[in-house]
Amino acid sequence: PSRIYLGTVIHSLSLGCLEVIERAAVAVDKSGRIVFVKDTSKCATTADYIDFPGAEVVELGARILIPGFIDGHAHAPQQTFLGTGMHLPLLKWLEAYTFPKEAKFSDPVYAAAHYRTAVKRHLFNGTTTCSYFATIHLESTKALVDIVLELGQRGLVGKVNMDRNSPPFLIEETDTSLKDTQTFIDYVLTKNNPLVQPVITPRFIPSVTSPLLTGLGQLSISHTPPIRVQSHLSENRNEIAWVLQMHPENPTYTSVYDSHGLLHDRSYMAHCIWCTQSERDLLQSRSTGVIHCPNSNFSLSSGILNVRRLLREGIKVGLGTDVSGGYTPSMLDAIRQAVIASKMVSIGQGSDAETGNEGEYDALSYAEAFHLATMGSAECLSLGDTVGNFLEGKDFDALVLNLRAEGSPVDVFDGDSTLELFQRFLFVGDDRNIEQVYVAGKRCK
Ligand code: GUN
Ligand code: FE
Repeated sequence: PSRIYLGTVIHSLSLGCLEVIERAAVAVDKSGRIVFVKDTSKCATTADYIDFPGAEVVELGARILIPGFIDGHAHAPQQTFLGTGMHLPLLKWLEAYTFPKEAKFSDPVYAAAHYRTAVKRHLFNGTTTCSYFATIHLESTKALVDIVLELGQRGLVGKVNMDRNSPPFLIEETDTSLKDTQTFIDYVLTKNNPLVQPVITPRFIPSVTSPLLTGLGQLSISHTPPIRVQSHLSENRNEIAWVLQMHPENPTYTSVYDSHGLLHDRSYMAHCIWCTQSERDLLQSRSTGVIHCPNSNFSLSSGILNVRRLLREGIKVGLGTDVSGGYTPSMLDAIRQAVIASKMVSIGQGSDAETGNEGEYDALSYAEAFHLATMGSAECLSLGDTVGNFLEGKDFDALVLNLRAEGSPVDVFDGDSTLELFQRFLFVGDDRNIEQVYVAGKRCK
């Protein structure tokens, strides 16, 4: 190893199962990979965990090491109107706020300035991996890739496709859209840097014609492994009615993506609030992930997703902020709102009649919500072998938490257990407690 961190480790091994190591040694090699995580109280001598020639020992004291957050769904251009338009439902919000603001990203210089701010905000809030929607604009989307690389974040980046039902100032020709997507994918793959990967990103079914959807599906599977696919699915009831009207040949919204070859194990769909049993069965059989974006679902009055049921049905679930349908890039907020949404479902206020079990406790625990924000998202994004927790061989994507930091909103008392401190951080903490951020062993905050 080249570096050994000494401190408290908390990470999620499986849904609801946290591992806490009060005094851990985390060894990281030159390439940023985790060599070992040892419980020092179980080591006979310090030689077992710190005596390695040339290795730097970093003493974190009472600080806590957790895996970085993984935001499964965010729109990088939309931070330019973060926190505005929250009185509108989806389709009106797109027309009034989103499309005019995204159109400004036709200018790569404007785009680069705002993308830099956006990526920094995600990173400083502890998001070490983010799956981004950019806009339809090729050059600006390339700029986003360069900025993610420069700032050291791990990013999945998509050039958005839109060739129908879009305003004249934010629409593409079908052929150009497909060609630019190909060019974009080549641009990212030529970087040959595992930290940034391209994602095929049809905006949602209303914005993309059948021929373009088909072309994108073919483009995805023409690579080995297939290029990842991200989109929106079953978010808003007017949107769903519109899709079904547009595609009478398909029984459901989900089957429209599927019939164009866009659902596979490297696809992940935001929202999925209103998916019926047959749609959920389809997602499950295709191993497609669901990104739960609770802040957005509340803010745009879209609905309340029943996460517990998806988990029980064996569907991969991760968390996302969906900025700026959601009003903050903070994954801590996504964790909190996921817990609240699950409580709504458990008291019978979810988006359909099939609810929790008659008031019995069925909401997400803090440990489960944390799992979704780390391992859950990692699995949806096909990064489960690379990040999400501190298993040996994974990349060191980590946050160093200081609950005693200057201005901390969290109180610390003698006798608090580590898990009590961790719960306080999840529900009350903020970026002031996120003192350091590492991606593949490199410090980015
Ligand atoms: N559906 C289509 N476009 C968007 C978008 O930008 N945000 C959200 N939340 N839903 C969408
Ligand atoms: Fe979105």
